[in-house]
Amino acid sequence: LRVAVIVVAAGSGERLGQGQPKAQATLGAEPLLAHALRGVLAARVGQLVCVVVPRGDTELRAVCAGIDPEIITVDGGSTRSDSVGNALAVLPEGMDAVLVHDAARPLTPEEVFHRVRNALDAGAKAVIPALAVVDTIKRAQPAADPGIAPEQVHSTPQREELRAVQTPQGFDLATLRTAHEAATMFDDAQAAAITDDAMLVESRGVSVFLVRGSELSLKITTPTDLLIAEALLEGPAA
Ligand code: CTP
Ligand code: MG
Repeated sequence: LRVAVIVVAAGSGERLGQGQPKAQATLGAEPLLAHALRGVLAARVGQLVCVVVPRGDTELRAVCAGIDPEIITVDGGSTRSDSVGNALAVLPEGMDAVLVHDAARPLTPEEVFHRVRNALDAGAKAVIPALAVVDTIKRAQPAADPGIAPEQVHSTPQREELRAVQTPQGFDLATLRTAHEAATMFDDAQAAAITDDAMLVESRGVSVFLVRGSELSLKITTPTDLLIAEALLEGPAA
């Protein structure tokens, strides 16, 4: 299979709160994007890498060029899904499959990339890394009496059935492209509710296979996550 790896790095990092795009945030001595790209390249799972950067961001483009001048860069969109769509639009001809990875996951181990790639080689049209959930998860709804609390429990899904999903998410390229084209018809609320690529193909009846993710593949969202990543980077585990 000819595989392209898309790394989405065009988010603004509101929740991290550093006043700069999250992919620029420093972990160890380097920006998150540099860690993520080194992981992608070390795993050797694709023929090319395409990085989606914030529109007009010269700093992250320079990070890409410094790591490998062959890396393709493209401007991001207003949602993650738009950013993925922009990358799908510029991939060169002849690719069969794509891995979509978050720059916000700087420590994803090579094995996770390999598990995803192996499932594509085995014929999966869609495959995502996942971990069992450790917390009990509740479905919430508006409270009957908002004077007590804003929300109340609707129901409790069985924890054994739940998985927390990660990236890289792997897809047959035509399958992902078709799903993204259909999503361009969505209204703003529907578009905002797309939090991963697998959702788009699931809703079209495609089997999405699950492979084992990694605790090291945490997504940096808040300042606490960055502290955990710093510890993982220094500790023996990473
Ligand atoms: N992303 C993107 N384009 C967007 C939004 C997100 O490429 N318009 C990317 C981010 O750069 C990140 C990944 O999608 O690598 C996951 O998004 P998230 O963790 O939500 O990152 P941000 O959107 O940057 O963070 P926040 O939501 O706190 O602003
Ligand atoms: Mg976001």
